[in-house]
Amino acid sequence: MDLLQLMKNRRSIRNYTNDKIPSDKLELILQAGLLAPSSKNIRPVEFITVEDRETLKQLAQSKSFGSGMLKDAACAIVVIGDTRKEDAWVEDCSAAMGYMLLMAESLGIGACWVQERLRKNAFGKDSGAFVKELLDIPEYYEVEALLSLGIPEKKGEPRSWETEETGKIHRERF
Ligand SMILES: Cc1cc2nc3c(=O)[nH]c(=O)nc-3n(C[C@H](O)[C@H](O)[C@H](O)COP(=O)(O)O)c2cc1C
Repeated sequence: MDLLQLMKNRRSIRNYTNDKIPSDKLELILQAGLLAPSSKNIRPVEFITVEDRETLKQLAQSKSFGSGMLKDAACAIVVIGDTRKEDAWVEDCSAAMGYMLLMAESLGIGACWVQERLRKNAFGKDSGAFVKELLDIPEYYEVEALLSLGIPEKKGEPRSWETEETGKIHRERF
């Protein structure tokens, strides 16, 4: 399949079967994340994989809204940036997220980006701080996002380039 078609097919998947993700597929998703471009090639991005059901349930409560799917996910990849190494850690983490989303799609794994940075949980606690505490992440890392993964209950509708967004492309001048 060509890359553009893969990009059209990728949709956020928030409903999963009870099946596990084969470990070779999970490794490919992680590799894709590490292959993403990085500012000055400093590569401050690191991952924590979580498959433990109780921890996934806790992660589902990391935000007041938009993280609930994690309680039924097969795996979460917690994407963190080492702020000592690079001030563009947000961009680097985001590039890694994009790469992993596409790799997941190519492998038939359902995935959804769960933003943690700048978000709060239902008790008003900073989502990143909540995740750091839960997973023993050192204070000089920041949590950018979680990638929720699972075998899709059903595929999403492919996006259509023709009907969306074309007005956002400006040529030569705004
Ligand atoms: C920066 C960013 C943050 C997002 N955060 C969440 C989130 O916290 N929870 C969620 O369910 N989806 C989240 N999403 C997924 C978007 O809702 C989704 O990409 C958008 O609705 C378009 O749908 P699609 O991915 O199926 O094309 C996020 C996506 C991005 C790029």
